[in-house]
Amino acid sequence: MKIYLKTFGCQMNEYDSEIIKSILSENGFSFADNEMDADVILLNTCAVRENAQRKVFGLIHDIRHRRGGRPAIYGVLGCIATYLKEGLLENKNLNIDLIVGPDSYRRLPQIINECLLSHQSPVTSHQKKTHDITLNEFEMYSDITPLRDGGNPAASPQVDVSLSRNINAWIAVMRGCNNFCTFCVVPYTRGRERSRSPQDIVKEAKKAAEEGMKQVTLLGQNVNSYRFEDAGFSDLLEAVSQVEGIERIRFISPHPKDFPLKLLETMAKNKKVCKHIHFPLQSGNNRILELMNRTYTKERFLELVEKMKKMIPEIVITTDIIVGFPTETDDEFEDTVDVMKQVAFDSAFIFKYSERKGTMAAKKFKDDVPQEKKKDRIIKLNTLQKEISLKKNEAHIGQVHDVLIEQKGTSRSANAFQGRNDGNKIVILPEGSFCVGQIIPVKITSATPHVLRGQPVEK
Ligand code: SAH
Ligand code: SF4
Ligand code: F3S
Repeated sequence: MKIYLKTFGCQMNEYDSEIIKSILSENGFSFADNEMDADVILLNTCAVRENAQRKVFGLIHDIRHRRGGRPAIYGVLGCIATYLKEGLLENKNLNIDLIVGPDSYRRLPQIINECLLSHQSPVTSHQKKTHDITLNEFEMYSDITPLRDGGNPAASPQVDVSLSRNINAWIAVMRGCNNFCTFCVVPYTRGRERSRSPQDIVKEAKKAAEEGMKQVTLLGQNVNSYRFEDAGFSDLLEAVSQVEGIERIRFISPHPKDFPLKLLETMAKNKKVCKHIHFPLQSGNNRILELMNRTYTKERFLELVEKMKKMIPEIVITTDIIVGFPTETDDEFEDTVDVMKQVAFDSAFIFKYSERKGTMAAKKFKDDVPQEKKKDRIIKLNTLQKEISLKKNEAHIGQVHDVLIEQKGTSRSANAFQGRNDGNKIVILPEGSFCVGQIIPVKITSATPHVLRGQPVEK
């Protein structure tokens, strides 16, 4: 039986898909590279915004269309499963066979087999629908080694897959979320927050190093609240940095409400910890931040950014912003513009508020900022951010950055190599011969808002 698994959403889902692949291959399933050759089609999904959901449903219709009448088992995994629950199975239009939530992947082989049996049996006129969407605050999948085979096939045909290999290992250090930001579905889709033991995490990082990974990215919805017995997140970073072969350690995301100075001290002195902080602002206005239940103020956020810049002068700061939260006025939106200017983020993901049923914001407020206004605000922020990103990137011209080579071939050229600097910025080397996984010094020669270009130099 061949499975096609496609992943949507955040890095936590990428990681979970590697856990899923591990569980399925241990149970005798193999994998297809595309949906046409598969008997079972599994989508590991994201529910964070309406658009994310629309994409998944669109793909299900697309795949059915492309396969003509050829039957397959269709399964929805991940956050849409726990967000929409059994109602998803009743949707005749989608006609999904199974749904399995983020804490139930151990049962996936059994659930798929039940579905396959009921499909094969000629006596059942109704195919059996099956699901497991229970959330389990003890599930950490710690005994399962993720199958790290590079994830979804390379996005661009120019990428030389034979010379490119996975050099980054995602490692979930926590699961779930207890923050209940009022706009967000994650506490409902992934349940209560829990931390994994440093021993388990270090063991996983060692395995990743043995597989040839050069970098680990530690994942949690708010890594600042990582706690296992006496160990906090800074202790965890120190422990992981002892792993031989792992050259770079990244993490996402810290929350501005409880950012500890100890973390900055650790970042400043530990060479392996990359000097990049993804620091989600969401809004620059204190009234909106309060309605969002973010529990920090504009002033506190700016103060933390100042500390970051002071303690780690080369720090790269990126962010997430939501425009058009219910009742956000033009003046209040200007506070977000102001923070963006004052901080000068290296890059920003900017989203239109998307009302999600079941969240506190949906219960309490009407989604009353008109679409046109949301659109104007997002354009304004994106335009401003593009200017800032360009300026920040141009400032790197002439500097020498250590670049970890990630792939051969870019969307523009099959001969170019692509890697990232310590600050997580993409660096393109137009020509040359390098090995994926190598770290080399590169002199930056030009910049756009999104990438740097450079030439290798002698150390
Ligand atoms: N735990 C992470 C965020 C995970 S969701 C953190 O707190 O940093 C990723 C981003 O999606 C959020 O930072 C937010 O900007 C955006 N987002 C979440 N819910 C949203 C909604 N209902 N509408 C629009 N954007 C949303
Ligand atoms: Fe959502 Fe807030 Fe938790 Fe992030 S911290 S996952 S935005 S509830
Ligand atoms: Fe989406 Fe779930 Fe991640 S809702 S952003 S896939 S935690």
